[in-house]
Amino acid sequence: MNTKYEEIIGEIQSRLNDERLKSGEKLPSIRRVAKEFSCSINTVLKAYSELEKAHLIYSVPKSGYFAVGTDKPKKRTQMKIDFVSAGPDKTRMPYRDYQHCMNQAIELYKEEMFQYSHPLGLVSLRHQLSAQLQDLQVFAPPERIAVVSGSQQALDLLISLPFPNHKKEICVEQPTHFSFIDSITSRGLKPVGIERNQKGIDLNYLEKVFRERSIKFFYTVSRFQNPTGCSYSNQEKKHMVELAQKYDVYIIEDDYMGDLDTRKKADPMFAYDPSGRVIYTKSFSKILLPGLRLGLAVLPEEIMKVFTQAKFAADVHTPVLTQGALEIYLSSGMFKAHIEKLRRQYKKKGTILKKAYLEYLPPNAAFTGGDSGFYSTVVLPSRMKAKNLAEYLKKKNVLVQDASGMYLPEYREENRIRLSVSQVDGRKIEVGVRKIGDGIRALI
Ligand SMILES: Cc1ncc(COP(=O)(O)O)c(C=O)c1O
Repeated sequence: MNTKYEEIIGEIQSRLNDERLKSGEKLPSIRRVAKEFSCSINTVLKAYSELEKAHLIYSVPKSGYFAVGTDKPKKRTQMKIDFVSAGPDKTRMPYRDYQHCMNQAIELYKEEMFQYSHPLGLVSLRHQLSAQLQDLQVFAPPERIAVVSGSQQALDLLISLPFPNHKKEICVEQPTHFSFIDSITSRGLKPVGIERNQKGIDLNYLEKVFRERSIKFFYTVSRFQNPTGCSYSNQEKKHMVELAQKYDVYIIEDDYMGDLDTRKKADPMFAYDPSGRVIYTKSFSKILLPGLRLGLAVLPEEIMKVFTQAKFAADVHTPVLTQGALEIYLSSGMFKAHIEKLRRQYKKKGTILKKAYLEYLPPNAAFTGGDSGFYSTVVLPSRMKAKNLAEYLKKKNVLVQDASGMYLPEYREENRIRLSVSQVDGRKIEVGVRKIGDGIRALI
């Protein structure tokens, strides 16, 4: 499918959503759009015809295309600026391409798509993943790759598995991805926390923890961390891997958004020790379609057997049809083209966000991250509670997340909010951040 076609549809939808194109207003001419998107007139006609079928626009012979609108006043909820939702930008999700790949997978593999399958995933997909991971500097044979039902499943399973180092404790960054905290605390475990902020992590303290505690693994999100949005430098990553080797600790590197990194020289931790010391997990939720629940883990040979048993016990295997479609999506080159587009689009959002932070946040507030076009946090003045600011902003139609739930109880900070800009249109990012800045000034 033509990717320009999708881009045009996405762009018009986004203009309709944020009312840059109002009801009855004329759309840009076919010729102009073809020039703007460097594509053929036919592609624009096809995109406009699709929008017409969806009743979003209508055509007037010899006049052009016009936006359909409702005369009803918009509900207030539609005006909300939502910095809480953290799924991918809905206008950029390639669900039509994926639908095509699902159909292709059925054509190609027939009943195999509906049979029981291998707990670690389709062999042909694992081969494709092994090749595709090389673009991320992850060199692993298909036999060490497990396809999982979202990377969360791999993280959840790894918590309970016995590791070759026979150690029991888990070390996590503070704050961290709240689903991982849920996975640990739901098992009654008490992990060791280590603070992570804009400056990184205290490597001396990490060494002390590795040396003095019985750490089975250190869970880290090496780039675009959730919630801080921060990434480690190559030097920091290398140092942490060396510490893990020295003290016989495993690292679980959650690289859920590695594909969106535009820094060509940024390595994953896995690249510094591909032997299995670093367990690498990757998600397709932020870059593809989160509802598919597709992810992978690159595991050490020593735990392949127990992991396979645990995966089988959890859900037998990840649904086969979505795996077959992913294989086709990867092998056809659609994935690469999609990622290249996404990188540009999300980077643009990140740039707008950081500019807005610098312009509108008061001097007694600070921000972390923001590069990925997904997560970042705002550190509020120390006496201000994130909960109160979130409530105040809700009344102003700006939704932000109180980040206190992203900490273990004993490390909790109550003056951080998390913002995700993935589903917020560029223009609204600025408006929203201005309101956040005003809110902080009003509540202090
Ligand atoms: C740090 C982190 N890892 C992984 C994921 C994605 O998990 P999954 O692949 O299970 O959807 C998320 C989603 O928000 C996340 O924040």
